[in-house]
Amino acid sequence: MYSSEEIRKRFLKFFQERGHQIVPSASLIPLDQTVLLTSAGMQQFVPYLSGEKSVLQDFKSRHLTSSQKCFRTLDIDSVGDDIHHTFFEMLGNWSIGEDSKKGYFKAGAIELALDFFIQELGLNKDKLWVTVFKGNEFIPEDEESIQIWQKNGIPLERIKEFGEKDNFWIAGDTGPCGPCSEIHYDRGSEFGCDSLDCGPNCPHCDRFVEAWNLVFMEYEKDQKGNYHKLSQKNVDTGAGLERLTAILQKKKSSFETDLFVGIIKKMEEVVQQKYEDQKRIFRIISDHIRGIVFLIAEGILPSNVERGYILRRILRRSIRYGQIIKAPGDFLLLLAKEVIKKYSSFYPELEEKQEEINKVIRKEENKFNQTLQRGLKEFDKLMISNPKIIGAKEAFKLYQSYGFPLELIKELARERKVGIDQEGFERELKKHQEISRKGSKAKFGGVDREAGYMATKLHTATHLLHQALRVVLGKQVQQMGSDINAERLRFDFFHNTKMDSEEIDHVERMVNQKIEEDLKVKKEEMSYQEAVQSGALAFFKEKYPEKVSVYSVGSFSKEICAGPHVKHTAELGKFKIIKESSSSAGVRRIKAVLLK
Ligand code: SER
Repeated sequence: MYSSEEIRKRFLKFFQERGHQIVPSASLIPLDQTVLLTSAGMQQFVPYLSGEKSVLQDFKSRHLTSSQKCFRTLDIDSVGDDIHHTFFEMLGNWSIGEDSKKGYFKAGAIELALDFFIQELGLNKDKLWVTVFKGNEFIPEDEESIQIWQKNGIPLERIKEFGEKDNFWIAGDTGPCGPCSEIHYDRGSEFGCDSLDCGPNCPHCDRFVEAWNLVFMEYEKDQKGNYHKLSQKNVDTGAGLERLTAILQKKKSSFETDLFVGIIKKMEEVVQQKYEDQKRIFRIISDHIRGIVFLIAEGILPSNVERGYILRRILRRSIRYGQIIKAPGDFLLLLAKEVIKKYSSFYPELEEKQEEINKVIRKEENKFNQTLQRGLKEFDKLMISNPKIIGAKEAFKLYQSYGFPLELIKELARERKVGIDQEGFERELKKHQEISRKGSKAKFGGVDREAGYMATKLHTATHLLHQALRVVLGKQVQQMGSDINAERLRFDFFHNTKMDSEEIDHVERMVNQKIEEDLKVKKEEMSYQEAVQSGALAFFKEKYPEKVSVYSVGSFSKEICAGPHVKHTAELGKFKIIKESSSSAGVRRIKAVLLK
């Protein structure tokens, strides 16, 4: 029986032996900030898939493979069933920019997928069914794939056609996209239903498990909703490691595979109850604890906005479920330790962040515990009058005063079989956000200033980054360019080789260290000559005026710069490098963000 580690390893090796470069998982914080968290393996390759950047400039091959950390909030309510997860890993292979000699497209992708499943993993070919795109008003039926599957021994009876919802793939609303063809694995009639048309995507049962999605990316969707042919053809595939492991280990649910047994066993031990008796709660907590560990390891902290709020929701939900099953106070820490143990060999960053992970969990537990019991009492009070529905104002009070995320309020309502005015709640939330937006507008003097404040912080972060790079990589590091917007900083600098993950980590840690030291940022005016003599860094391409401003951050960094900058580094929050790549020969590029 293959372990999940073995499956991941075999997948990457299989594609490496067939000319693919193994690319490390990208951060869960995506480079293009159109989505909050990375939800597919292809996201780090979008500029190459769309043809905006040449893949051979940054990679050794146009054929790539990876195991990508992913997080999908969309499935949060389905967690607890056999196969849904928030955090999961996606195995994938890519062929970027097909040309007849060097790339592969439909036939190549299909043959490789079948080879991996059948020759490499030994899956029974008779159990494989496939789905293909039946076409719509813009894009024709994918007849070519049907023929290729047949040629490779999948009979027509096991090839099913579906529409856009199932067999056309795009990440979000715009960007590279195309018809896809999926391999589904038939787990046998004991998992099935009696419906005559039971097959892949059966709405009544989960006899057929979607095991691998092969996307044939040759279109791009623009903001108006129109499709254009891309200048190149690409293959983008994705197979969920959790599901594949369940298939190979012959388990009904991925929660019963080795990816989860350690966590679930630990939970049985600490709460002295059996998984079989508390399946749903055990599954939710063991799903969420993986997400909690991986999100905190990315530097995300619980908050009420964006990524921080996703983390807060899964943390608070786990804390509350922990209380229901009477788990001891430190149970999340014990489970986090199991997650780290399971994943550290492939994701070494987890072990390095162990302390931080514990600190964040403990702090959030303390914070939530202060209000949880009072909030539950408040909720019980609401129930006294036997309402049919919880009103918007009441729900919002639970959110606002007691820190209950919406899911928790919904769950409590479901348990007591009452409804909740969700629309009203959303309206209250918007109203409240509007008020606080106006508040911060008043504080900084205008909407642009709000974005401006983030850019200001990123300016200061750029100085810290520049200096940290010089400490870690050497004094030859020199700024070649800098670009800052309200979301991220981009910094180009002289350096001959790609930074390894240790160097990136070191730089990131150093910047965060300086932020935590809360250094004072000081501005002085002097002549260019004086500035350079005092050791201030200058951006050599620039022409400087008679008098220049010199910004010092504590005694750590000193640069000639026109600003603007913050007054104290603690204002910056948490610094995170999201990408290190080549910009041009001998010049590296770093993109980084500040997290709340
Ligand atoms: N991008 C596709 C998916 O996420 C294939 O990798 O399913």
